[in-house]
Amino acid sequence: MTPGTITRVVGALAQATGMRDAQLNELVRVGDAKLLAEVLRIRGDEATLQVFEETNGVSLEARVIREGLPLSVDLGPGLLGAVLDGVGRPLSALAAQSGDFISPGAVAPTLDPSQRFTFRPTRAVGAPVGEGDVLGTVPERGGFEHRIMVPPGHRGVLRTLDGGVFGATDAVGELDDGTVLRLSQRWPVRRPRPSTTRLASDRPFLTGQRVFDLLFPVSEGGTVAVPGGFGTGKTVIEQSLAKFAEADVIVYVGCGERGNEMAEVLHEFGSLRDPRSGHPVLDRTVLVVNTSNMPVAAREASTYLGLTIAEYFRDMGYRAAVMADSLSRWAEALREIGSRLQEMPGEEGYPTYLASRAAKLHERAGCVRCLGAPERSGSVTLVAAVSPPGGDFSDPVTQACLRVAGALWALDPELAHQRQFPAVDAMTSYSLYSESMERWFGAHVDARWAETRASLLALLQRDVELREVASVVGHDALSDADRLLLAAAALVRELVLGQSAFDTNDACSSPGKTFQLARASLDILARGNDALAAGVAFVDLELDVTRRALASLRDCAPEQAPERAAELARRIEALAPERKKA
Ligand SMILES: Nc1ncnc2c1ncn2[C@@H]1O[C@H](COP(=O)(O)OP(=O)(O)O)[C@@H](O)[C@H]1O
Ligand SMILES: [Mg+2]
Repeated sequence: MTPGTITRVVGALAQATGMRDAQLNELVRVGDAKLLAEVLRIRGDEATLQVFEETNGVSLEARVIREGLPLSVDLGPGLLGAVLDGVGRPLSALAAQSGDFISPGAVAPTLDPSQRFTFRPTRAVGAPVGEGDVLGTVPERGGFEHRIMVPPGHRGVLRTLDGGVFGATDAVGELDDGTVLRLSQRWPVRRPRPSTTRLASDRPFLTGQRVFDLLFPVSEGGTVAVPGGFGTGKTVIEQSLAKFAEADVIVYVGCGERGNEMAEVLHEFGSLRDPRSGHPVLDRTVLVVNTSNMPVAAREASTYLGLTIAEYFRDMGYRAAVMADSLSRWAEALREIGSRLQEMPGEEGYPTYLASRAAKLHERAGCVRCLGAPERSGSVTLVAAVSPPGGDFSDPVTQACLRVAGALWALDPELAHQRQFPAVDAMTSYSLYSESMERWFGAHVDARWAETRASLLALLQRDVELREVASVVGHDALSDADRLLLAAAALVRELVLGQSAFDTNDACSSPGKTFQLARASLDILARGNDALAAGVAFVDLELDVTRRALASLRDCAPEQAPERAAELARRIEALAPERKKA
């Protein structure tokens, strides 16, 4: 492949000649610094390149060397716990080479070639194997079983397969057609990894956050958009889910957001333990870091890198989840590149293909039957933060995500201002999965789950209406029953929907605890209404007693929740006759 020559550089875009037989999306290296770039457009002999690194110092006549393949990532043992930049280079390797600031053109393999893994084959030589077949396993940190698979597109008879200690990219076997089998496989990040069929998921992606699990649940393999203005709690939600959500693997994509937040994540995840396995949270996490101080073009790639890694774990039969913070930065990167290419702009200057790109990106989530034997299924759940300017949801990126996402967790600046966290607006948020998830919760947590959820939503709806009325006629003009309802709704917001990410006892709520809390607060309302019917005047103070009792319930360990809830119910019961006497 003859090298091309740079004729023009504008920001992250460069123009090169001598590129006649280059391919769309092919990777190239630009100049003496060998800056990583991608072919975006070809016209005759000319190609437009998107450079993933700072283009300062690139000169005219600089050489463009073609790599002959699209932007790809090595997938294999060693990914868990890794911290990668937007194009798949481990930050630790880059720091070792050049210190705290990445030097342009740095090369670092995604998988550390010096790291050794013990491979145990589960297939015998001479066996016919097909794409996706599990060939054996590698134990990783935290007891994770890494399944080594035949790469998609390959089949044949196993000519050799060796157990033992290997580096991730070493050959461990061979097919009869000469295909070399390694612990790792390379995959182009922009191409979705194949599976046998898509499956409907009947299980929730348990977040450990009451407001989501109870009111707006997402299925495993589902997608949710989390739009919210600055400071509404998007990053805290993504981080809480990364720590506590029930998933085998979390891929956290920090795309275009603040660098100190990612430093926090790293620091915290290393010391924090997964409540279920007891292993450090970092052991089940892959971090893709492309913060606001890193080049824009790599931001666009980082989202695809994260999805590809999640799909790879899905293909092993695991439940993977991608936390993307945020897709607005991904879309802004598209806009910047589009405008440099002088494409016809659409709404707000975003390219006209924004909606279709967003749809394709969301389609990579899902629950699937994996390729190959043994039969298994896996999932990729996508939780995508969106940061609309001014918190205005009519923004094209929010709209593009809402068209394709299965759920909306709408964040409200007013609630965040009142420090009601997670600042979820229950009237705007929705989940298209709620019906099928109610069946799961009904079977696995409590048969009254759906009824409880409906009552809570009705209570919150009535609360909004009553507050509107009260703002006109005054609080005192409301009936006792209405005042009781307002007090009960306040209690629900504070104790059920409210959940501090920084309270170690409560940052993760089991579905059992979530249910007990919801039930207990509805019971308070019901018993209060009974008392009113029996002729007791409504006294706010009594609610305060029960509020404190409920708070003690919230702060207890989840396994104590049912017991405490029963105790609480007894206390409320004891209140009613006393009131009658009064
Ligand atoms: N669940 C929560 N519990 C407690 N505090 C929260 C919670 N969510 C957000 N906050 C507070 O709000 C601040 C801003 O949240 P952040 O996630 O950084 O917002 P965003 O990413 O939307 O700009 C946090 O620093 C924290 O003080
Ligand atoms: Mg944020």
